[in-house]
Amino acid sequence: MPEQSDSQKLLLQTLRGRKTDKTPVWLMRQAGRHLPEYRDLRARKGGFLELCYDPEAAAEVTMQPVRRYGFDGAILFSDILIVPHAMGQKLWFETGEGPRLSPRLVDAALSSLEAAPEHFEAIYTTIRNVASQLNDETTFMGFAGSPWTVSTYMTHGQGSKDHAVTRRYAYQDEAAFSELINAIVENTVEYLLGQIAAGVEAIQLFDSWSGSLSPAQFEKWVIAPNAAIISHIKSKCPDVPVIGFPKGAGDKLPAYARETGADAIGLDETINPVLADKNLPKDIPVQGNLDPLALIAGGEALEKSASHILRTFEDRPHVFNLGHGILPDTPIEHVEKLLTLVRK
Ligand code: CP3
Repeated sequence: MPEQSDSQKLLLQTLRGRKTDKTPVWLMRQAGRHLPEYRDLRARKGGFLELCYDPEAAAEVTMQPVRRYGFDGAILFSDILIVPHAMGQKLWFETGEGPRLSPRLVDAALSSLEAAPEHFEAIYTTIRNVASQLNDETTFMGFAGSPWTVSTYMTHGQGSKDHAVTRRYAYQDEAAFSELINAIVENTVEYLLGQIAAGVEAIQLFDSWSGSLSPAQFEKWVIAPNAAIISHIKSKCPDVPVIGFPKGAGDKLPAYARETGADAIGLDETINPVLADKNLPKDIPVQGNLDPLALIAGGEALEKSASHILRTFEDRPHVFNLGHGILPDTPIEHVEKLLTLVRK
């Protein structure tokens, strides 16, 4: 990437550890359900997964929030469950309920799956489509789910509240579970290197369910596999920043920051920004962490929370974001109001 165009990208600069004049902003799950133009396109294409595997439509959904709001980051429209699909599980989405995967990897062995790496190809085509449309100021982000989070879906066969099946499996058959985690690491590395080759400029690793683990299990199933993925990526693409987002990590966040090699740390909304600023290495960029419900509420709740976050991270590289994904019933005007607050 030429120096010239990089220097205009606030988000990329910030993820590389520079404090820029303005705070870059994007929102997790910005590409999707809160936008009427997304809901229209999904209805026309017949469903969510159909959209993910349609490189033109998926590029369009990636661009929609960037066009509407002028965010500093474009996040690839896809899903973390593309990796289990490519590893050979069946994947579908039940309307109004969420993802289903089969066979569940507590009922069937990993070795019984027939890998389908061709699923990655459509995603790479989406990336090339987006890269050809994006302006010089917007940073293009790829992503993957982290192995622990992905394994909860692969073992339960769907979303779960407390991930009990997975946690039990990890204790009862550590060797088999470890094999599953290693296989996810391997596929995720291949997938992320493919995303980078196709044109993404930064990566986010979503460990959305890392909050359900005890400290010792967190070391094994969150820190170690994320560190393995990051070191593989860094050995091939040292200049591509990686944002680690261990949602629910709480007091394990400093260890995650020290031990994984992530370039930037995503904070969920339960993290106190003042404590995060105090307890994380001074030079590491942070991302977050407005409560998605404060964005829905708007008004004073939104203004107060957003300015507290901005003030707290005034002296370190900071990417403004939510603490988790934007919710479907978020009013468009509240997002616009937030952007005014962050950019003023
Ligand atoms: O951030 C973005 O806008 C990019 C696209 C993106 C999606 N999913 C699109 C999506 C990203 C980065 C994800 C990540 C993802 N997917 C996570 C981790 C992040 C998080 O929010 O914790 C997880 C756990 C998934 C798995 C998943 N995908 C579930 C459980 C569901 C159903 C529940 C839900 O949130 O809708 C999905 C579906 C999904 N992924 C939708 C979108 C836009 C909604 C599908 C639709 O209704 O059109």
